[in-house]
Amino acid sequence: MSHVKNVLVTGGAGFIGGSVVATLIARNTAPVKDINISTVIRSDDQAKALSKLGINVIQADLFDEKAILDAVLNNEIDLIVHAASSFVLPLGLNLVRALGQRGKITGRKTYFINSSITTAFSEDGGWPEGEVKDTDNLYETEKQIGDDHPVRITDIGLVEESKAQGVEFFNVAVPVVYGRGSGEWKKLSTNIPAFVRKSIEKKIVYKFEKDGVCPDIVSYPLKETPSLVLSRGSQFYLIISGQLYQNPPAIHVADLADLYVVLVEKILQGQSIPNGENGYYFGFAHRLPWWKTMERIAAGLHARGLVADPTAQVWPSWEEAAAQLKWPVQHIHAMGAATGQQVAVNPYLLGWQPKWNQKRFLDSIDDEIQAALDEKPLESTLFVTIL
Ligand SMILES: NC(=O)c1ccc[n+]([C@@H]2O[C@H](COP(=O)([O-])OP(=O)(O)OC[C@H]3O[C@@H](n4cnc5c(N)ncnc54)[C@H](OP(=O)(O)O)[C@@H]3O)[C@@H](O)[C@H]2O)c1
Repeated sequence: MSHVKNVLVTGGAGFIGGSVVATLIARNTAPVKDINISTVIRSDDQAKALSKLGINVIQADLFDEKAILDAVLNNEIDLIVHAASSFVLPLGLNLVRALGQRGKITGRKTYFINSSITTAFSEDGGWPEGEVKDTDNLYETEKQIGDDHPVRITDIGLVEESKAQGVEFFNVAVPVVYGRGSGEWKKLSTNIPAFVRKSIEKKIVYKFEKDGVCPDIVSYPLKETPSLVLSRGSQFYLIISGQLYQNPPAIHVADLADLYVVLVEKILQGQSIPNGENGYYFGFAHRLPWWKTMERIAAGLHARGLVADPTAQVWPSWEEAAAQLKWPVQHIHAMGAATGQQVAVNPYLLGWQPKWNQKRFLDSIDDEIQAALDEKPLESTLFVTIL
């Protein structure tokens, strides 16, 4: 068993961080049930809402190095789950340095679980073509690519700073997340609610011009005829105009929160699991068939009388889509139609078992629509630094 008693979750008012907090609280088995949970949030309203959970709520901005150091030292934090920002290196650096300081004072190990983004490992996100596993040497490849992708800069910077500070580092790469979050504040994700709300506003459902395949699905609507069907074991890939398209990975928020909690559990149990340069965890359960999803959104909104056409139309341009959705134009391809052959290995080696699959996701699209209609939209601050 490890010595860790106090765990801090950042982004506790966010969709993912809020769900991690709720899942940690709900886990009534040792060793997780015995930890003290702290979270960092920014606004008074969020502080009020999260205080009801009976956890330690710290109101601070993660840019404030001194406030973060004080929070970590005063609350004797030895493990941080960082679910606030994958794009902004200084926030993670402040947290890792504070853990480093805590480790120096106590002479004991500290741990940092980061949230990265799977699209950084997709071809549209600048990753080389071909299969990529989380057990590959991803840190070295991120360094070799050497571009200005904010997620790669953050990944590399945090691997290196953790090493320098003697902090054990784990990096969960997060794909498209869906479902209703169990947190106290922001309950919904970015992608699907944005598509639903924009569709209602424009009275038309748009989809991106590019769609891919999901492994195991070969009969899929495509604009062009596939020139070749590749089969590897139970996986099938279509090659169109020489290009291999595979749809992006996805995960239900409950499964993702569970993955973070499994990592926390392993650390608390003192188990030795992949970390540092080898500590990448591709957190996904299945592929997300974009066109099928958008067709189901179109059907669901049409049935409610909210759009004129029961089928989805292609966005006039990628730039138009970025402007309408308020997403960074340089990342719109990766966010809207990322392709890549990411293979998740490490989470499954931990014994993590997601409960959602592609069929269950597609069958739940009506709930996704209803959730976007029920929940008050909360402005996301995720892209502020990029925009
Ligand atoms: N949702 C997805 O589909 C998805 C997919 C891939 C990766 N990710 C990554 O996962 C992470 C969490 O995503 P999410 O969907 O949970 O986002 P979210 O709902 O917007 O939550 C992020 C939270 O972080 C907080 N935060 C941001 N900057 C902060 C700062 N300087 N100080 C203190 N708090 C700060 C925000 O606080 P405020 O409420 O005050 O703004 C917000 O509550 C992000 O890094 C995101 O890039 C998400």
